[in-house]
Amino acid sequence: MVVEDPIAVAQAWLDEAQNVVGEPPTMTLATATRDGKPSARVVLLRGLDDRGLVFFTNRESRKGQELRRNPRAAVVLHWWELGRQLRVEGVVEEVSEEESVAYWETRPRGSQVAAWASRQSHELADRAELDARVAEAAERFAATAGAVPLPPFWGGYRVVPETIELWTHRDDRLHERVRYERDGFGWRRALLAP
Ligand SMILES: Cc1cc2nc3c(=O)[nH]c(=O)nc-3n(C[C@H](O)[C@H](O)[C@H](O)COP(=O)(O)O)c2cc1C
Repeated sequence: MVVEDPIAVAQAWLDEAQNVVGEPPTMTLATATRDGKPSARVVLLRGLDDRGLVFFTNRESRKGQELRRNPRAAVVLHWWELGRQLRVEGVVEEVSEEESVAYWETRPRGSQVAAWASRQSHELADRAELDARVAEAAERFAATAGAVPLPPFWGGYRVVPETIELWTHRDDRLHERVRYERDGFGWRRALLAP
């Protein structure tokens, strides 16, 4: 039996959501420490293809540090408008430097300066400390005049799916849940009770 490609379905869902919602897709990304203490936050989904789901962040952030020691993640997207939920679990890898640079260059200069200035997830004494770091970075890059370079501590990650669940709302809570698990070059498909 030929099983449909869940990544192609997820891409179609994202396209439909884009038309209906009009905002860039966000996903809740769960990571965990090596001893299994979980944490979750929302990030922007910046790419989805056969290789997986890509997001960008500070590699020294809490999530970055957790991923360094435990490179696995669970991701969930939900659309009220479409009655759909997409769940993905898998191993996380860093995207290539070229991919990070390509995305970095699409970011507004202010966001680039902020990425240099903000030690994401680290404690601040007060807001003034952040303001001072932003002013310092802005001044440094004003002096260089050209483009703001990609910080060495910033870049993309790809969640490489091992499991994908496509959830569709149905009446009376009898939702449709289809789980796909990697099976060689294809996928094993199973229907789950709602
Ligand atoms: C709508 C939305 C989109 C966000 N997108 C990103 C993102 O793409 N990358 C990122 O690092 N943080 C993003 N954030 C901030 C994260 O939720 C989080 O505060 C930050 O990454 C620090 O998380 P951590 O301390 O767990 O590493 C976003 C927040 C919201 C509400």
